[in-house]
Amino acid sequence: MGFQLSNIIPWGRSFEDYLEMFALTPEDLERSILDCAGGPASFNVDMKRRGYRVISCDPIYQFSASKINQRIQETYSIVVEQLHQNKENYVWNNIKSPEHLGELRMEAMQRFLEDFSLGKAEERYVTAELPKLPFNSQQFDLALNSHLLFSYSQHLSEDFHLESVLELCRVAREVRIFPLLELSGNLSPFLSPVISNLQQQGWRVEIEPVAYEFQKGGNQMLRLFKTTID
Ligand SMILES: C[S@@+](CC[C@H](N)C(=O)[O-])C[C@H]1O[C@@H](n2cnc3c(N)ncnc32)[C@H](O)[C@@H]1O
Repeated sequence: MGFQLSNIIPWGRSFEDYLEMFALTPEDLERSILDCAGGPASFNVDMKRRGYRVISCDPIYQFSASKINQRIQETYSIVVEQLHQNKENYVWNNIKSPEHLGELRMEAMQRFLEDFSLGKAEERYVTAELPKLPFNSQQFDLALNSHLLFSYSQHLSEDFHLESVLELCRVAREVRIFPLLELSGNLSPFLSPVISNLQQQGWRVEIEPVAYEFQKGGNQMLRLFKTTID
């Protein structure tokens, strides 16, 4: 069956993971970035420490740091157990074991938790959820979405995917989504309809290989660029 979850989980990656997942260049870091479904990733705080400002949005930001932490603690054993059961579906190079992955993710999520109150006050963490975002059209240069769209194709419908991608395209001039695989490791069935729809609406669509690969074969991101000037 492959890795399975009953719900969408709060689970967060680091700055280094984001650099690889989205092939971010030094020039990209200077851009105005939205991390949509940022969850408890440390990308926002790690960027701040490097002198950049990112806005992250996620429905879990309505909760307190201690409540989010409680959900993370509940999630930890579920993820480690699922990774043990499906070990052959992952690349174990830099990450040595399910426990090692748990340790790396918990370090990143701890940095997020320590930053959360300040980040909320500074409006770097905004409570919002796809498919409708409280941002202006083209407010951002670049919108990132990792481990929500396509990953949760068993939980979120094709219509939700289409509406959400169009919404990301409304708020940013460029959109990058990673990975293109479902949690189970199969290519999302919604990738192809999303690509056709976006192309019809005048977006340039590219699938690019990236350095990050933890799910076997999950080393590609979707890039959407605006080609029309309006
Ligand atoms: C697995 S986490 C990924 C976090 C981060 N992007 C990363 O890769 O480290 C998925 C996140 O999606 C968020 N989420 C769930 N439904 C959402 C929605 N409709 N719009 C935006 N985010 C959503 C969850 O709250 C959760 O924090």
